Formats: sequence, structure tokens, C-alpha cells
Amino acid sequence: MSKLPVLVTGGAGYIGSHAVLALRDAGWAVAVIDNLSTGTRYLVPDDVPFYEGNVADRELVTRIFTEQGTGAIMHFAGSIVVPESVEKPLEYYANNTLASHALLSAAVDSGIKHFVFSSTAAVYGDPERVPVDESVAKLPINPYGASKLMTERMLEDASAAFPINYAALRYFNVSGADPGGRSGQVGKGSTHLIKVAVEAAVGKRDHVDVFGTDYPTPDGSCVRDYIHVSDLVAAHLKALERLIERPEGNLVLNLGYGRGLSVLEVLDALDRLLPQPIRRELKGRRAGDPPNLVSSNKALLQTLDWTARHADIDDILGHALEWERKLLSRNWE
Ligand code: UFG
Repeated sequence: MSKLPVLVTGGAGYIGSHAVLALRDAGWAVAVIDNLSTGTRYLVPDDVPFYEGNVADRELVTRIFTEQGTGAIMHFAGSIVVPESVEKPLEYYANNTLASHALLSAAVDSGIKHFVFSSTAAVYGDPERVPVDESVAKLPINPYGASKLMTERMLEDASAAFPINYAALRYFNVSGADPGGRSGQVGKGSTHLIKVAVEAAVGKRDHVDVFGTDYPTPDGSCVRDYIHVSDLVAAHLKALERLIERPEGNLVLNLGYGRGLSVLEVLDALDRLLPQPIRRELKGRRAGDPPNLVSSNKALLQTLDWTARHADIDDILGHALEWERKLLSRNWE
């Protein structure tokens, strides 16, 4: 399999920056486009060509394709906050669906052959069965999930009409940080459980809210499938290799471990890594939270030569904690 130059959109963001590191580590040529609306410049290594701008800027992306000899795209840029998508739906359709359309059509016009797309478990909405496999009905319950699902559909139709193939990778709960401490989640005001919890662990917050303890789950708190970001991006590289090897085939895959952990189990595990436990406040349910969201990753395991390396929750929490301590020690946000 020959390696092609890869353009990573959103490469200064949490997941995109880990993809850049993994691609570079594996010897791929990589360039980044990011508008830095939520991304952080220092997460991109200095020797990676960096373009500040929007993926919807056709002129810019077409120039990048030429300058970098781009052969494949990994598309992470987009808006990702579920409640915000409910308040600002048109912004989500613009940043996710319309921007992806512009990028995809520029890619098709420039003869780019492979497109790896950052999709989400939110395309399933409140799924009719758990573990969720890829054939479960896709009925998103918020504009975020709908905006991503529309892009999946565009990719499907475009790949049928043009010589481009794609992977739509549906993420479950992405968490953790680069084991080498080179990247991690940055930014104030995160609402993700593990980010919030490690912020509390280093003293940036004085407690963690537990949203709901009366769900029909073993301990009453919500269950999720937390996947380490390094394992997640490793699956992207395997997916890209497969797209290159089999130009006639597309991939639609869940990225998760197929293992559920409750909010309380995650907090208990973190407490075990700390000299003293984090203060918890038991709160009511957060609007829109499904009680139990766990992937079936059978298709992932059967299709790609991928194995989980960091599924242990102690790895996920340990790396997230190390990164949070690094942010604190450097006065980064
Ligand atoms: N939670 C708390 N306290 C917090 C933060 C979260 O108890 O301070 C709980 C939530 O209520 C939920 C669980 O922890 O039960 C996980 O919540 P996150 O916010 O970490 O993640 P979500 O499962 O809500 O969201 C994830 C992705 C989204 C994606 C969604 C799909 O982050 O991008 O799954 O359902 F859209």
C-alpha cells in the first residue's frame, strides 16, 4: 500500500491533532487546515504545513491540494457541542453539512480519491437496541447528529457517482490523551465527563456533577462507551489504508470498545488514581442524555486489522490526568 499525502481538517483540534501525530509517527506526509475557532495552534507540530482558514473556502483548499499533492482527506473540522446545536441549528448545518459539501466537491473536482469522515454515535439518536451496531435505525435527536448524518449521505451518493471512496467513522465517547503527552483536550468550558473530572482532580473545579442517578442502569447513572483517542485515531489510519487498498469499497464503522462504563464507575476509577477523592454532587438528569449508549464494534474488528491498546479505563484517565497537569503547569487553558 502506498502512502499518500493527507490533508487533516481540524488538525489543531482535540481529535485532529492526535490524527496528525499518528500519521506523522507512521510516516505519512501530512498537512493541516484549521480556522482556529476552537483549535489550538500549539497542538500542531511546527514541521507540519499549517493553513489557517475554512474548509468551505474552495479556493484555499484547492490551492492546498495542489501545493501538498493531497491524495486523501481526514475531515475532523466541525462543530461538536450537542446542546449548542439545538440553540444554533443553522450554524451546525453550515459548519458541518455545508462546509463538508464544499470540501467534498472541491476534493472531487481535484481528483482526490479517499475521504475519511469524523462521524458520531449521535447519528443513532436514542437507539432502539444496545449495543448499537451499524444497522440500527439512524434517527438523530439533535441538529448535531443530523448534520453529520447528512454528510454521511452526501459521501455515499458522491462515492457512487465519482471516483472517490470514503470511511464514515461513528465515534462513541472519545477521551484520554496522547500517551506521550504531546496533545490532549484543551479549552475552557468543556462539558465532557472525563475532561470535567480531571479538571476537578487538578483543582480547576471544586466538584463534579453527576447528572442523574435514577436511570435504569445497574448503579442508576448513565452508561457510555469511552474510547481512548489514540485507539480512535489508529482506526482512522487503518481505515485509510483499507480505502487505498480497495478503491471500490466504502466503510461505515462504529468506533468504540463495545464496553459500557457508568458515570459513577468512571469517577470511582479516577478516585483510585488520586490521593483524595473528588467531591461529587448528585444532580437531576441532563436533558437529552440516553441512559445507555454502547457500541457494537464487531464490524470494526472484522473489517480492519485494529486492536485496542488503551481500553483500560486507568489508561484513559491516567493520560487525561497527565495532560491536564501539563496544561496547569504551563498555564495553558
Ligand atoms: N456527565 C456528568 N457530569 C458531567 C458531565 C457529564 O454526569 O459533568 C454525564 C452525562 O450526563 C452523560 C455522561 O456523563 O451521562 C457522558 O457525558 P459526556 O458529556 O461526556 O458525553 P455524551 O455522551 O453526552 O456525548 C458524547 C459525545 C458527543 C456525541 C454524543 C452522542 O461527546 O459528541 O456522545 O450521544 F454527540
